[in-house]
Amino acid sequence: MHYGDSEFHARMSESIAAVDVALVRLTPRPGTRPAVLHEAMRYSLQAGGKRFRPMLCLAAQALFPARLDAMAAAVALECLHTYSLIHDDLPCMDDSELRRGQPTCHKKFGEAMALLAGDALLTHALWLLADAYAAAPEVALGLVQDLGDAAGSQKLIGGQVEDIIGENGGVTAERLEFIHRNKTAALICASVTMGVRLADAPGGALAKAREIGVNVGLAFQVIDDILDVTSDSATMGKPVNADADNKKITYPRLHGIEASRAKAHALTDTAVRLCEELAGPGTFLAALVRGMEHRIN
Ligand code: IPE
Ligand code: IPE
Ligand code: MG
Ligand code: MG
Ligand code: MG
Repeated sequence: MHYGDSEFHARMSESIAAVDVALVRLTPRPGTRPAVLHEAMRYSLQAGGKRFRPMLCLAAQALFPARLDAMAAAVALECLHTYSLIHDDLPCMDDSELRRGQPTCHKKFGEAMALLAGDALLTHALWLLADAYAAAPEVALGLVQDLGDAAGSQKLIGGQVEDIIGENGGVTAERLEFIHRNKTAALICASVTMGVRLADAPGGALAKAREIGVNVGLAFQVIDDILDVTSDSATMGKPVNADADNKKITYPRLHGIEASRAKAHALTDTAVRLCEELAGPGTFLAALVRGMEHRIN
């Protein structure tokens, strides 16, 4: 099946709505003690967001017959991602006041509570995988490995560290590639592989899923860097020109806007081709990947 525009948007809205319902169901209820902490966690989770990582996970699983319900993994990915945004916005990091169209977690709840809400979301993500997939320990183990690896010191955190070091100079294409590959592409890659782990996929599918994920993830951050220069804060729901203000190494800064667009396009093409190799033409995953190249926020 090929996705026309309206089918694509309908499936995307359906998928986002299902993730939003699951986010409420699979995180501590409002009022749970300490209420302020759980309120801060929910505030950032429910502020909106494109839900790209959970959708990737669900779409990757849907390439093959389902083995287990992928929704808990999708929620775990969004919890982990949201934690990374809360911490990314802190004054000691990117010092940002707006996220997902609302005041950032620390602006609303204070720095200590934002730090702790982030910590709690990170831990919740790993617990949720272990808990939701306890009846299939081999799958649970693979999911925890994927998420723990992507979020760890050599990947997401390592990328964030070099992103900060880069503010003080040392702008090289090699460092930029390291930053993008790790701060962003690693978690996006895990989103795809976790989806495949939850499916009855043929041998070799995981390796191909990893390749898809890295290409999508690199494209995603190049586009994020482009939008920081070309978009506006009302559309983005976060400040723009923040990278220049923070002296960040970005793709447009190093290579220019046109080369950045060409790079994002080439990476997307590669990812779509790999999706076709893995599961044939016309999948929702490929449409999602293509759609993300043209996102406006
Ligand atoms: C923002 O991620 C941080 C990056 C890694 C570029 P998203 O653009 O997915 O943010 P939300 O989830 O839609 O708010
Ligand atoms: C954030 O990258 C990456 C992580 C949170 C791991 P950015 O700093 O570019 O994200 P935005 O632009 O603030 O969303
Ligand atoms: Mg940052
Ligand atoms: Mg930032
Ligand atoms: Mg950015």
